[in-house]
Amino acid sequence: SGEGAGAGRDIGGDGIGPDVVAQAVRVLTALDLGLDFAEAPVGGHAYRVAGHPLPPETLALAARADAILFGAVGDPDCDGLERQLRPEQAILGLRRELGLFANLRPARLFPGLADASALRPEVAGAIDLMIVRELTGDVYFGTPRGRRTTADGLREGFDTMRYDEAEIARIARLGFETARGRRGRLCSVDKANVLETSQLWRDVVTEIAAEYSDVALTHMYVDNAAMQLVRAPGQFDTIVTGNLFGDILSDQASMCVGSIGLLPSASLDAAGKGLYEPIHGSAPDIAGQDRANPLATILSAAMMLRHSLGLADAAARIEAAVAAVLASGARTADLGGTIGTAAMGDRVIAALAA
Ligand code: NAI
Ligand code: MG
Repeated sequence: SGEGAGAGRDIGGDGIGPDVVAQAVRVLTALDLGLDFAEAPVGGHAYRVAGHPLPPETLALAARADAILFGAVGDPDCDGLERQLRPEQAILGLRRELGLFANLRPARLFPGLADASALRPEVAGAIDLMIVRELTGDVYFGTPRGRRTTADGLREGFDTMRYDEAEIARIARLGFETARGRRGRLCSVDKANVLETSQLWRDVVTEIAAEYSDVALTHMYVDNAAMQLVRAPGQFDTIVTGNLFGDILSDQASMCVGSIGLLPSASLDAAGKGLYEPIHGSAPDIAGQDRANPLATILSAAMMLRHSLGLADAAARIEAAVAAVLASGARTADLGGTIGTAAMGDRVIAALAA
């Protein structure tokens, strides 16, 4: 357990994880919210100190906590390990064991950052969307899956795409609730013209819509959604979709608003408890160089205050401070600037006080 300087080494994980989590903890501490911080090793770091990427003590601490702030896992030195001992198993294990079925990924363009987007400034400037991605079902977890040999002697791989109606209803409700708290528009993305799973998805989402007459529901095929995200992303408010389509669309959306170092995420269970992490990984190429952008993790901490700790005002203060810092022209290396990780944390803390 620790606060302020030095915090983050443990639950921060590998590579740049500890550096960016340390800055988020500094920002949270500066807000003086009376939070209790406890840390536990995770990822390749945990493998080295405890022999497993997700030690039982770490999982138990995460289960006890009101919310989890996570950095990143992934360590090239662990490449030779068997799959179950690789650092990435830690984040998959946390999602699975804690029932974190809903992944919220907001994407919006901060003022002054239009030049960082891959899109034309006037197109990028309209982006303010939230992707609600189902996280524990779909083709990633469906069985049977595996390899076999066909009658012709060819190697064949197969996976099963599946959702039951309760899983769809659960994520659909969160989609409607999220849209209700935003601009009141929900777009459900599927592939109902081809997939049976998607036809059930569309049926169930349409049924749930009756409970949310104040939300405008539309449906879109995923291939069209991929196109529309680049053509006219300003049309989207809230998107709800399955695990596979959400994985792809949320990465695509992230690149429409600049750097991967800016994008936060929340992974929530049924009671609103959550794990909060930047969408990026451990970035071994820049680890230990004070070059990582800490804003994605600082914005993840803001999501944590809002979604799990009932501190929406404090969350809004952090988000306003980040927007002010970016509007002032402060840039880390990923955005073409020269400001270091810790100095960026200093800027955000200074903006909080302003
Ligand atoms: P990555 O996101 O770590 O890095 C991709 C590129 O973006 C790199 O050039 C990196 O320098 C840059 N980058 C990432 N975050 C940045 C930040 N905050 N500021 C500035 N630049 C940043 O993805 P990559 O390289 O594919 O994976 C590296 C390791 O991270 C792998 O072991 C992978 O498995 C793991 N990973 C872990 C995740 C997690 O913990 N949830 C998610 C994604 C990858
Ligand atoms: Mg992905």
